[in-house]
Amino acid sequence: MTSSNAAEPVPATLRVRELMTAGLLSHAIGVLCDLGVPDILDAPRTHEDIAKEVDAHPEGLLSFLRAAAAAGVLAEPAPRTFELTELGQVLRADDPRSIKAMCSLTCRDEFSRTWSDSLHTARTGEPSFAIGHGASFFEYMGSHREFASLFDRAMQSSAAVDNLLAGYDFSGAGHVVDVGGGRGTMLAAVLKRYPTLRGTLVDLPHVVGNARQTFVDAGVADRVTLVPGSFFEPVPEGGDVYLLSRVIGNWNDEDSLRILRTVRTAMRPDSELVVVGMMPSENDRTHYPQQLDLYMFALLGARLRSYAEYQDLFAQVNMRAIDWSNYPDSESVLRARVL
Ligand SMILES: C[S@@+](CC[C@H](N)C(=O)[O-])C[C@H]1O[C@@H](n2cnc3c(N)ncnc32)[C@H](O)[C@@H]1O
Repeated sequence: MTSSNAAEPVPATLRVRELMTAGLLSHAIGVLCDLGVPDILDAPRTHEDIAKEVDAHPEGLLSFLRAAAAAGVLAEPAPRTFELTELGQVLRADDPRSIKAMCSLTCRDEFSRTWSDSLHTARTGEPSFAIGHGASFFEYMGSHREFASLFDRAMQSSAAVDNLLAGYDFSGAGHVVDVGGGRGTMLAAVLKRYPTLRGTLVDLPHVVGNARQTFVDAGVADRVTLVPGSFFEPVPEGGDVYLLSRVIGNWNDEDSLRILRTVRTAMRPDSELVVVGMMPSENDRTHYPQQLDLYMFALLGARLRSYAEYQDLFAQVNMRAIDWSNYPDSESVLRARVL
């Protein structure tokens, strides 16, 4: 057998072909999540055994398992035998850090179609989601409940709760208003940590309609008010703290300023605004913020913003960021006040 010299560089053509098919690895992981494979891998199992339990075709499944092993979330300790790696644990539904719903969401046809149409975004600067779906991303979710439910669950499981609790001290506050708070995972955690705090959750009607259980499960339902509505209309006044978590990053500058003005109008002079979200910085250790930025633009025509870019936005609505903290998962928590 003739073998190539391991010291030779990998040909550029092979490297780029590998790069161009990297998306298949994420789809393989998405398929395995949808089949529930990570959930049954408590110990190494053969591909036939796995296929039998999740009702899949053994040979068909093998390529997906090997792709996931190439991506590092599975390992193949013996031929055709697979186990979950440490990295892969977050794909299990029962892992406290689980991002299983997020993985399923990322692989949805709605996203694939958006990528197929993304040349439009590059040429025009417009989001490409509406081309294949006839509506903007959030409008689409208003009439596609199953997709919206998956999106909301993905948001719940990826909410930066620990960062918020570490990055902001609510002990001086009596009332927090979470604007665009999804099903309330973050607000429920804050209310649970601060037993005298009251909360108000504002989000679109189809989202708020599914939020009560989050507060019941956290044992804080008696201290929360659910407000179905839009942050392009007035939001409840008088909160000590207003929370915008992963909201401003979904909108272009014009709409972001509208949202900030809505919130600013509701704030008292001594209220604080807390913004949670990914803010690209020199501390980033992965390419994920750049990838999310591309997502935001193709789906929503929006941008992730750095701390300095947030300061520019705040200046236009007579507000000022007073500090920010950046966390290992690249999420940030920023505090702002009315000038
Ligand atoms: C990326 S999610 C973030 C959810 C939550 N704050 C979190 O950090 O997990 C953005 C949220 O904005 C909500 N949203 C979109 N348009 C809205 C509008 N016009 N008014 C109120 N909420 C809206 C969505 O329903 C969604 O829950």
